[in-house]
Amino acid sequence: MLNTDRVLAAATFDFKGKRILVTGASGGIGLAAIQKLLDSGAAVYSNSRRKIDIQSDSLIQFNEDLSEEDNIEKWVSEIESIDGVIYSAGILDSIPIRFAKKEKMMKIWDINYFSAVTLCSLLIKKRKVNKGASFVFISSISAKHPYIGGSMYTGSKSALETFSKVLALELKDKLVRSNCIAPAMVKTEMYEKGIEKGSKEFMEEHIAKYPFGAGEPEDLAQAICFLLSDASRWINGITLTMDGGFLLQGS
Ligand SMILES: NC(=O)c1ccc[n+]([C@@H]2O[C@H](COP(=O)([O-])OP(=O)(O)OC[C@H]3O[C@@H](n4cnc5c(N)ncnc54)[C@H](OP(=O)(O)O)[C@@H]3O)[C@@H](O)[C@H]2O)c1
Repeated sequence: MLNTDRVLAAATFDFKGKRILVTGASGGIGLAAIQKLLDSGAAVYSNSRRKIDIQSDSLIQFNEDLSEEDNIEKWVSEIESIDGVIYSAGILDSIPIRFAKKEKMMKIWDINYFSAVTLCSLLIKKRKVNKGASFVFISSISAKHPYIGGSMYTGSKSALETFSKVLALELKDKLVRSNCIAPAMVKTEMYEKGIEKGSKEFMEEHIAKYPFGAGEPEDLAQAICFLLSDASRWINGITLTMDGGFLLQGS
């Protein structure tokens, strides 16, 4: 298996002078992306309800619940215009359809979809998106490869992928790009919770189907930085699948 330091060092980026907004900062993927962005010279505006333990003059933390529209409005009002957004906030849940209740649905959709839309809307309305900016939304392979119990989660991620394309269309005149990344299993708190809720044997059997093993947050950080950077300037409106070869096994 690859050493994560080697993964992080595998590609270098220069984000000096760039301001990037990151949601889901306390999650494994958000945190790895923030570390790489800071190492690459970016200034970062982060959000998660929990504080993150990174000391840097280039990091400004906001620690509020993004399911409240007023919190998003306050955050956007406080920041300077941005050159990139990573929307990594998300909630995973598994609810059989027969137990679906609107309250549960809304909890998932609020964070996985509605807050993303509200954030983008406010950033545009308040003129906080710089020309040439890049948006990266973290979706999931389950948007196209659903699982039992995933009606709300997978639906919210499918909607996010479509939203990203609409955003790309609406902002094309400002040369703003918008793309998604759809990961399979990545080793974060979400993955640990999956083991807690499901069975360890099931998870081990599942991961055995990944020729390159489960993903590391650093694998995601690399791809996120690539999509934020000018190295991907000709890539717009796509969803990049990252699955360590997992889906290929079903072919
Ligand atoms: N890990 C995987 O295997 C995997 C696979 C496919 C897709 N994804 C997607 O990747 C993204 C990041 O996942 P991760 O694995 O890094 O997840 P994670 O470790 O569970 O982190 C989730 C993040 O969302 C934030 N969040 C949740 N509810 C929030 C709220 N109400 N207000 C503000 N922030 C909130 C959490 O922050 P606080 O709790 O501190 O507020 C946390 O930073 C998610 O969108 C997830 O759906 C993950």
